[in-house]
Amino acid sequence: MGAILGLYLLTFLLVSPLAFSERCNPKDKKVLLQIKKDFNNPYLLASWNPDTDCCQWYCVKCDPKTHRINSLVILSSVPDTNLSGPIPPSVGDLPYLETLEFHKLPKLTGPIQPTITKLTKLKWLEISWTNVSGPVPDFLAQLQNLQFLDLSFNNLSGPIPSSLSQLPNLLSLRLDRNRLMGPIPHSFGSFKKPGPDLYLSHNQLSGPIPASLANINPTRIELSRNKLEGDASMLLGRNKTTQILDVSRNLLAFDLSKVEFPTSLISLDLNHNRIFGRIPAGLTAVDFLQGFNVSFNRLCGEIPQGGRLQTFDVSSYIHNKCLCGTPLPPCK
Ligand SMILES: *[C@@H]1O[C@H](CO)[C@@H](O)[C@H](O)[C@H]1NC(C)=O
Ligand SMILES: *[C@@H]1O[C@H](CO)[C@@H](O)[C@H](O)[C@H]1NC(C)=O
Ligand SMILES: *[C@@H]1O[C@H](CO)[C@@H](O)[C@H](O)[C@H]1NC(C)=O
Ligand SMILES: *[C@@H]1O[C@H](CO)[C@@H](O)[C@H](O)[C@H]1NC(C)=O
Ligand SMILES: *[C@@H]1O[C@H](CO)[C@@H](O)[C@H](O)[C@H]1NC(C)=O
Repeated sequence: MGAILGLYLLTFLLVSPLAFSERCNPKDKKVLLQIKKDFNNPYLLASWNPDTDCCQWYCVKCDPKTHRINSLVILSSVPDTNLSGPIPPSVGDLPYLETLEFHKLPKLTGPIQPTITKLTKLKWLEISWTNVSGPVPDFLAQLQNLQFLDLSFNNLSGPIPSSLSQLPNLLSLRLDRNRLMGPIPHSFGSFKKPGPDLYLSHNQLSGPIPASLANINPTRIELSRNKLEGDASMLLGRNKTTQILDVSRNLLAFDLSKVEFPTSLISLDLNHNRIFGRIPAGLTAVDFLQGFNVSFNRLCGEIPQGGRLQTFDVSSYIHNKCLCGTPLPPCK
């Protein structure tokens, strides 16, 4: 009898810590196990064992108070991960998610899952370095709490939806390194000020940069390697506080002579465009300029002497129409 009781107690002691320490919400656990199944039990999710507390599993985090899953971050550092297939619809059934990330998963395919719109608490959505394809969906504008939207390095195509400007809390928008086409939406001028950092480089965006972008003031704007035409001076201006602007390798053609520059600029890259006129003397007042490149344009006249302009290499100025003066050869 004593032995049986002892055995009972021992079993109780062995099992109970587990039973009592299960913090994970059973609904969340069920959803996570469904996600694992939909991905065909990939090695990456091997720790998702139904007999253990899901708050302890890899790739997830629980809120310390509610114990609901608030973060799902599936990323691989090894290239041969066998996690494959589309984003499972069941990700939309983790209603407390604030962070959702799929990163470096080359076999993640298919479109961006519409059930994501159910995740109304989402602040951080990242799907990057995957083979997710199809459009950048309009429905992402429903995620009104989003602060970071990163869809870079995928196989996304089609236009940029103008509805994204309705995201009032957005701090950073990354759509770079996809196959996006068409113009930058005019609506991007109505982002809540100052406007998110914009990373749209390495796509096939075309047409003029909308004049409405004069109304926003992002810290960082990256538009390089597209087919954008015409003016880009609305991205500059004395009153802005932009620090990094890269519009290199486009088809931009405008007169640089009268452009005013934010004194906050740290890096300005205009290389490989059709920009004409002179380099304005105002640039000598940009005290913290560390990166500067106007090579491969149609600029002319003397490089203003002063400020940081003579600290840059010849390669920052080469291949223009008739630029001259230090660091290039003297003007005739
Ligand atoms: C992925 O790898 C794990 C462990 O190597 C294996 O158990 C699982 O069946 C594999 N899944 C697929 C879809 O190949
Ligand atoms: C997409 O898949 C191709 C091969 O199917 C692969 O070479 C490429 O690296 C993948 N892209 C990403 C970003 O993982
Ligand atoms: C990229 O998407 C296109 C369809 O938009 C598809 O034909 C192609 O196979 C995809 N590439 C990869 C590597 O998945
Ligand atoms: C810059 O700001 C000043 C004062 O805040 C204002 O008077 C001026 O019109 C602004 N200039 C531009 C180009 O917006
Ligand atoms: C400027 O851009 C050109 C063209 O891409 C490049 O060859 C050169 O190295 C760049 N110079 C600097 C200083 O970044």
